[in-house]
Amino acid sequence: MVQSFYMKYPHALVIGNWKLNPGTNTEAKNLFTAVRKAIPKDTEAKVVIAPPFLFIPELAKAKSKNTLLGAQDVAFEERGALTGEIGPAMLASFGVEYVIIGHSERRAMGETDQQVNKKIVASLKRKLVPVVCIGEKRRDTQGQFYNEIATQIKALSEGLTPLQLLKVVIAYEPIWAIGTGATATAEDVKEMQLFIVSTLTKLFDRKTAEKIRLIYGGSVKESNAQDLYQNGGMSGFLVGGASLQAGEFAAIIKATKRG
Ligand code: 13P
Repeated sequence: MVQSFYMKYPHALVIGNWKLNPGTNTEAKNLFTAVRKAIPKDTEAKVVIAPPFLFIPELAKAKSKNTLLGAQDVAFEERGALTGEIGPAMLASFGVEYVIIGHSERRAMGETDQQVNKKIVASLKRKLVPVVCIGEKRRDTQGQFYNEIATQIKALSEGLTPLQLLKVVIAYEPIWAIGTGATATAEDVKEMQLFIVSTLTKLFDRKTAEKIRLIYGGSVKESNAQDLYQNGGMSGFLVGGASLQAGEFAAIIKATKRG
């Protein structure tokens, strides 16, 4: 199964989720430039930076083939009475290609599974790649946490056709590993990859399930990236804290190089 996964995605997808960082436009431009410079020239990985919305217009001017732009959220409507929201067409018009949906930090602020599903549909209409986050709050020894994951997968994929689902990236981000320094082991990640594929197989079909790109997020850093990438069975990373340091982020990208 791992083999077919790598055949489909020989190159990693590495996304830097800047969250509420950095503090100013100038700092954002500097960080973006530093990241671009640090990325190994010969990398085959797809690198995406997801800055706060406000920085997107400026960074769009500096994006290149090896540094694409993402957003950290998106509205499920194109326009209307939704104060404070940013719609998919707006993002697409600035050259954004990826959008993180259902991050646990947004779910903690009240975002529901239903809203996540609507945001996926709205994003696909504008050809944005939805990077949909799932993950358990904590692990228990009986494996109940797998039910939490299955519920999230069912809800996010509700009503999607297999063709639509194939355009979605699923980011497994165990909440207990986000920003804590506690990373899931490569074995945990591998088990979860198999579980996600089997859940999607039940909901759709095996061929579709095996083709969905899965990435891992949660305290990814230079020191654990290679092991997670080579043994975790997933084809990329969603990086928070470490994406704010150009050198560390570049090292993570380097770790996805296949020898
Ligand atoms: P950290 O890499 O800081 O743990 O954050 C992970 C994350 O939430 C990325 O979306």
